[in-house]
This record gives sequence, C-alpha cells and structure tokens, in this order.
Amino acid sequence: MKTDINAKELRSMWLKFFADRGHTVISSASLIPDNDPTVLFTTAGMHPLVPYLLGEKHPGGKRLTDVQKCVRTGDIDDVGDPSHCTFFEMLGNWSLGDYFKKEMIPWSYEFLTDEKYLGIDPDRLAVTVFEGDEDCPRDEESAALWEKAGIKKENIFYLPKEHNWWGPAGVTGPCGSDSEMFIDTGKPKCSPTCSPACHCGKYLEIWNDVFMQFNKTADGKYEPLKQKNVDTGMGLERTLATLQGKKSVYETDVFTPIIAEIERISGAKYGSDEETTKAMRIIADHIRTSVFMMGDEKGISPSNVDQGYILRRLLRRAIRFAKKLNIGVGELAKVAQVVVDEYADVYTELATNNARIIEQLDIEEQRFEKTLAAGEKEFEKVAHYLVGDTLSGKAAFKLYDTYGFPIEMTVELAAEKGLKVNVDDFKKAFAEHQAKSHEGAEQKFKGGLADHTEATARLHTATHLLHRALKTVLHDENANQKGSNITEERLRFDFTFPRALTPEEIKQVEDLVNEAIKADVEITCEEMTVDEAKAQGAVGLFTAKYGEKVKVYTMGKYSKEICGGPHAKRTGELGHFKIIKEQSSSAGVRRIKAILEY
Ligand code: ALA
Repeated sequence: MKTDINAKELRSMWLKFFADRGHTVISSASLIPDNDPTVLFTTAGMHPLVPYLLGEKHPGGKRLTDVQKCVRTGDIDDVGDPSHCTFFEMLGNWSLGDYFKKEMIPWSYEFLTDEKYLGIDPDRLAVTVFEGDEDCPRDEESAALWEKAGIKKENIFYLPKEHNWWGPAGVTGPCGSDSEMFIDTGKPKCSPTCSPACHCGKYLEIWNDVFMQFNKTADGKYEPLKQKNVDTGMGLERTLATLQGKKSVYETDVFTPIIAEIERISGAKYGSDEETTKAMRIIADHIRTSVFMMGDEKGISPSNVDQGYILRRLLRRAIRFAKKLNIGVGELAKVAQVVVDEYADVYTELATNNARIIEQLDIEEQRFEKTLAAGEKEFEKVAHYLVGDTLSGKAAFKLYDTYGFPIEMTVELAAEKGLKVNVDDFKKAFAEHQAKSHEGAEQKFKGGLADHTEATARLHTATHLLHRALKTVLHDENANQKGSNITEERLRFDFTFPRALTPEEIKQVEDLVNEAIKADVEITCEEMTVDEAKAQGAVGLFTAKYGEKVKVYTMGKYSKEICGGPHAKRTGELGHFKIIKEQSSSAGVRRIKAILEY
C-alpha cells in the first residue's frame, strides 16, 4: 500500500489514471453552485455537472475527471474531532451516458489494488452494493463484477437505500444506487452482523461509485434518466489519512503546515492535551475553509446572510479558539497565508485573490473585536442587575445571540466576579434557537427547487442579458456576476458594483434586456477554448485552465457568455423583463431580483 503518498501525488495519480482511460481533465468549479437555490455550497464533484448528467452535452465529451473543491457545513460544531472538516477536495470521474458498471468496477479495483496506483491488498478491501427495493433492483451485477475482479465474496455486503444510494446534491436531480469501497482496518468485528454500515471504526470508506440512472422529482419520485451515468467520488483528505495510517486528517500533509503555523504563533503544541488539539483543528479547518470561500472565483465576504453568514460563523469560531490559545489579533492572517501558499499551485484563484483574502479576514477580526467589546459592556450591565449569584441562561443567551459573546467567555467573566452562569438554561435557549434556524434552512430548501424546467431555463437566459446590460448601462466591464439563484418565479443576480443603481439606470437596464427579447434572436451555442472565448469578448468566469474547452452562448449582439446551460432557444420566449428589487448584498456587491411577465 502507498503509505507515503502525499496530496499532490494522489491528485495527479488520480487525474492521470482517468486521463489514460479517455477522460478529459476539467477544472474545479466555484464553491458557489450556479442556479441551485437549494444549497449554499458545492457539496460534491457531481454538483456542477448536474445539467450534463441530465443530458446536456459537455464540451469535454462523455468522460470527465477532476478534483473539485467542496464545502459541507452541516457539522460545523463537530469540527475539532479527528475526522470532521468543513472543506474537502473530491477526486471524481464521470461517464455521461458512456461506460457503466462493467468498466467502472474493474477500474476502481485496479486503482485501489495495483502496485502502480494505491497498491492496497485486495483482502483488506470491503465493498457494498445496493440490496434493491421498489425503485431500483438488487445490484447482483456489481457484486459479480467485484468478485470477478478479486474481492472475496464475504467482503461484499448488500445494503439498503439508507446506505447505498447517492444524491441528489440538492433537493431534486440526478441520483442512483451506489457501490462503496472501504478499507478494513483489521479491527475485530464489533458484532456478528458488523458490516461497513456500522460506525465501529473497522471499515473506513474511501471511494463511492454512483450508478446514476434516476432523476428525483419535486414530488419525491424517481424517474429514469435519459442516459445512464457514472459519478464517483473519493475524498482526498480522508483517503490520505487512511493510506498514511494517520488517526486524523489533521495529521496528514494537507494540514501539517497549517498546524505548524498555529503552533508557531501560539507557542502551544498540537497533541499536548485534548483542548489544545481541538482548538488547533478548529482553527486549521475554519481558516482553510474561509480562505477558499474568500478566495473563490465568486469571492464570498462575511455577512449576515447565506454563504456570507456561514463564512462569518467560521471566522468568528476560529477567532474565539485562537483567543483560547493566546493568539493575538492579526496573527490569524499568517495561518491564512500558509493556506494560500500550500494550495495556490492547484487553486490559482487563491493567489489571484491573496490580498482580498487577508483584507477580509482582518476586517472581520476587527469587527468581531468591537462586537466583543460591546458584549462586555452589556455583561457589566447584566451583572449589575443580577439577583443572587447566578446569571440567567436567558441573559447569557442574549449576550451570545446579540453580541456574538461566547458562553465560555461569559462563564469566565462571571467567575472573575464570583458569579455563576446557568449554563443548562443557556443550552436550552441555544437548542431552541438552533431548532428555529434549522426550520429556516428547511424553508429555504422548500423555497425553490433546483429544477431544470423551461421556466428556470428562461430566467437563467435572462440573467445573461441582464449581465451584459448592466455592464453597458453602468459603463463598467467589472460589473461581474457574483452569484445567481433561480426559482420558477424569479431570478436573483449578484454582481460587483460599488453603489446603488439610480431609477434611470434600472429603467435603462430593463429597456436593454427587453429590446433583446423583442429582437427574438436565436440563442446559439459553440464550443471553444477559454482563450478563444476571451478573444471573442465573451463574459464569464475565466477559471478554466489554458486550452480547456468551454461552451459559449451567444444571443445576437446582446450577449456572449461562457456557461453550461440549459437555455431558451430564442430570446423571444422570455416575456417582459422587470426588475422588482435592487439592493446591497454585501460590501461592494449589489443584488437584483427580477421576473419575466407573460
Ligand atoms: N457524488 C458521490 C459522493 O459524493 C460520488 O459520494
């Protein structure tokens, strides 16, 4: 087994393995999904490829491979243990209606076991396959392919949907049964029924082959897709930890330089005690994720909504734990710089946005300092009016909620004054608040579906016209798209611009878009290299690497933009374009909401 493999080697080994098997290497997409209002971040390699899994043609062809940056923030509060991370890289490969199980399973086996690649002893591998239900039959075919490849029959497990089904990434979209691969750590079975489905630590998952044949619809049905796809994903950090025999992802080469910098600026030692280790993992994870967010092609800034809010939470939690380690204000920028330096050769946007990353971090750190100062004043007030010697949980929660005042600090300050805090009541108030915010998140999920109906395709088409019209009316070629979010009813479009638009400008933008709609021009799509697109004046994120092919959609003289689709066929299908709101989204970013009236 390749126990000394590092992140760089694993990435390139992966890409070469699939390139040698006819796959086009594509760049990682932004961390903010395009046109998917159901999730805030790209959570898997397949996420940016949804239109192609549904049948759109991809300029790279039918076989693709990449390393995708992903963020999953469901477990922020679990970060600190050995395995949780909010950011990770996913190694992936796809068949878009091309090969299927009988190619993918032997390749997976070869990559895992061949000495040229990971060289894992086949007897140390366990795999799972789908046991079958009313939506999809039992996957005897995959089981037979694994056995033929060399996996022992007793190491092949049939499991239900709960374990062997993947997707969709959002609420609706492509999904299917999967076959997962695990390393058997050699620990004894925890019970006679011990299997990769249990979390006793005997089996560690390293790879997932999804056989994507269904589209989950808004009413929860599984419709067969036009094409049979393969979507696979291997978590880089987790696989490195397993191969390198490390107990934690934080001890792999991905994290060691970051942890070393935290040790340097704090003077503390990773592993010296549980608290220090936990604090260092939290700082390392949260700063790494924040750097990728602030340095993303679509550049996220801390704010009180959506992606910006998650970023703010991560940064503030990192700052809180930095304080525990006596790391001074301004020092975390050094940790952020190590992250940039470690990753900039793979993710060049981090180098391009280096100054922005450090600036945003500094601003947020200062802002949080002020909030904490205000919280301390409030604390004095609350402590003054105290009856008895205990601060109520409610008061502690107000300090937390309104002033971002960590409970640990409240307890500390209280102790200095000989007071106690009702932490149990605080926890109750906190749990209630969390339940409420989860409801909020679920509402959001219900709010709009990442569907691919004609209505969303038309609104999406309108964002191209809007993007071009904004640049023209505002005489600003840097009025660039920052994100968009589309439901069946409306579009939302964020773009960089320093001030509010005047009513005249809003009217001019609407007129320009409506002129393009009236002209009823055909919408054409061409494939070209990113450099050709640039030369033709196409707008879009030029993150694809030199020579990589992209799709460019042209709408007569009105718009030329790099995009994946899908779109309307003619601008005339769009109806009357109307801006219903123009507001600030975050510093230097404006947000437009618009509709199409019929
Ligand atoms: N989309 C699959 C996953 O994330 C490969 O596990």
